Amino acid sequence: MMLDRLSPQAPDALLALIRLYAADPRADKIDLGVGVYRTEDGATPVFAAVKAAEQRLLDTQDSKSYLGPEGDMGMVTALMPYVFGAGDPTMGGRISGMQTPGGTGAVRLALALAQKAGVKRVHMGVPSWPNHAQILADLGMELAPFDHANADGSANLDAVLAAINGAAADEAVLLHACCHNPTGIDYTADQWAAIADAFATSGTFPIIDAAYQGLGHGMDADAAGMREVLAAVPEAFVAYSCDKNFGQYRDRVGAFYVMAKGPGQLDTAFSNANALARAAWSMPPDHGGAVVRIVLRDPDMTKAWLAELDDMRARMRGVRDALAAAGTAGRIDLTPLASQNGLFAMLPVTKDEVASLREDHAIYMAASGRINIAGLTNANLPKFIAALVAVTG
Ligand code: LMR
Repeated sequence: MMLDRLSPQAPDALLALIRLYAADPRADKIDLGVGVYRTEDGATPVFAAVKAAEQRLLDTQDSKSYLGPEGDMGMVTALMPYVFGAGDPTMGGRISGMQTPGGTGAVRLALALAQKAGVKRVHMGVPSWPNHAQILADLGMELAPFDHANADGSANLDAVLAAINGAAADEAVLLHACCHNPTGIDYTADQWAAIADAFATSGTFPIIDAAYQGLGHGMDADAAGMREVLAAVPEAFVAYSCDKNFGQYRDRVGAFYVMAKGPGQLDTAFSNANALARAAWSMPPDHGGAVVRIVLRDPDMTKAWLAELDDMRARMRGVRDALAAAGTAGRIDLTPLASQNGLFAMLPVTKDEVASLREDHAIYMAASGRINIAGLTNANLPKFIAALVAVTG
């Protein structure tokens, strides 16, 4: 039988944690698994601005007819000043975009288009978001890993520069714009300047994954490094996600942007990207993208959205500071977490220790040692620290 030729695949480890956690009856369980923001009460509420925009959409939408593979271009262009800067976010007509199903769709499209343009191998700092490697493997592209971070917790500039400077013409380099997933370790401003310089002199093609803008230091600050790279090179791809910074996780809202040498190359790139999207998902789901457009076109909603994002960021900073203030927990030095960004941090724990945290203490985290900072609260932080001491002490 044909289906007998299939061998069973392990479920995606991160997504499998969602189900494991839900099935755990222990009342004091802590979810530090998949990357969703949580409030001090452990909730992942819908942004008030998103609710208001959804209401307006419900009241005013008069058709659900098809839009096309590019999705809601109002949303795509409304985001551009936030991503590329308010001055001329098209950089003289050299940047355009299209909507994608979430950040994953954007990364998939970026890599598939790079492949179509002849890229066979992608350099990437590791550890990285596990889906990067999965998408590359699924496309039959080669991954060339380098160490993202040094042992002292700083970003490894030498490694990324060596990758950029050493990349061949059929290779690209994939970077995280901010809030590095899973380490939380971002490049400093000086490092971004050196990275931009290396891209400019080497001619290597940059692919930038911007999935957490606004969760590190703010919308502009989190884009600064990426913008510096874009200002230095003739062409690049940006994969963007609104899943986190608009809290629209399950509505799958993303965008894929191309910066080209000029309008002709840009049109050709999107004719190819549209064809790839058409063959993969035809067109992206509309609801979440329409909501982003409505929020960004309404100054009051925009203000409310940015204020809520500020609150999220402040809460995550508070958790990081509280963890760092604890100093060490067992074998684990928590002090570097204060200077890292975004939802994630990597703890140097073994797979057995991760299993013990889950089985003996009802604490759920990725087997890699990644924790979701936002899963911690004033209430559960002492339990988490005590469990780390018990397991690694
Ligand atoms: C994560 O890394 O937890 C998130 O980006 C969710 C996902 O799709 O993996």
